[in-house]
Amino acid sequence: MAEMQEIFDFPPAPKLDVFGKLDPKKATESEMRGQAVFFGKGRCAECHTPPFYTDNLMHNLHTERFFKPKMINGMMAVGDGMIKNFPLRGIKESPPYLHDGRLLTLEDTVEFFNLVLETKLTEPEKKDLVAFMRAL
Ligand code: HEC
Repeated sequence: MAEMQEIFDFPPAPKLDVFGKLDPKKATESEMRGQAVFFGKGRCAECHTPPFYTDNLMHNLHTERFFKPKMINGMMAVGDGMIKNFPLRGIKESPPYLHDGRLLTLEDTVEFFNLVLETKLTEPEKKDLVAFMRAL
């Protein structure tokens, strides 16, 4: 693990413990609620597993669900297909987000995954999720 950390060179995350989860003595209530959403209702941890918050796998998020089929230069435009997951450690430092930088803020990524995963998060849950990701 020490070797991996050197390779990725993540910025320090002083609120995380050895498992990569929040230390309740250091975290705010909003960050703690966000962590609960991340591992629970939001289902984020099913792909973004601690301590680096990635499973290092390819995933198909089926984004074509959200497009009207369209011909571009004689080819049918499709979804993103298989995309490599990203670690979320230090994520607040590295906008814009997704492989093509289409999302500008962490708030946008929460809206994106709420649609993709059909998790029906409430506004307070979305705010708490962003607070949690800022602590990573
Ligand atoms: C089914 C697996 C899966 C789940 C569940 C999932 N993600 Fe992701 N996540 C991905 C993949 C794959 C990417 C890269 C997508 C791309 O680049 O188009 C990604 C990218 C991201 C990024 C951008 C990373 C970067 O460096 O640009 C953020 C932020 C993120 N996810 C947050 C979340 C949050 C928050 C949740 C829960 C609400 C979540 N993810 C749930 C697979 C998942």
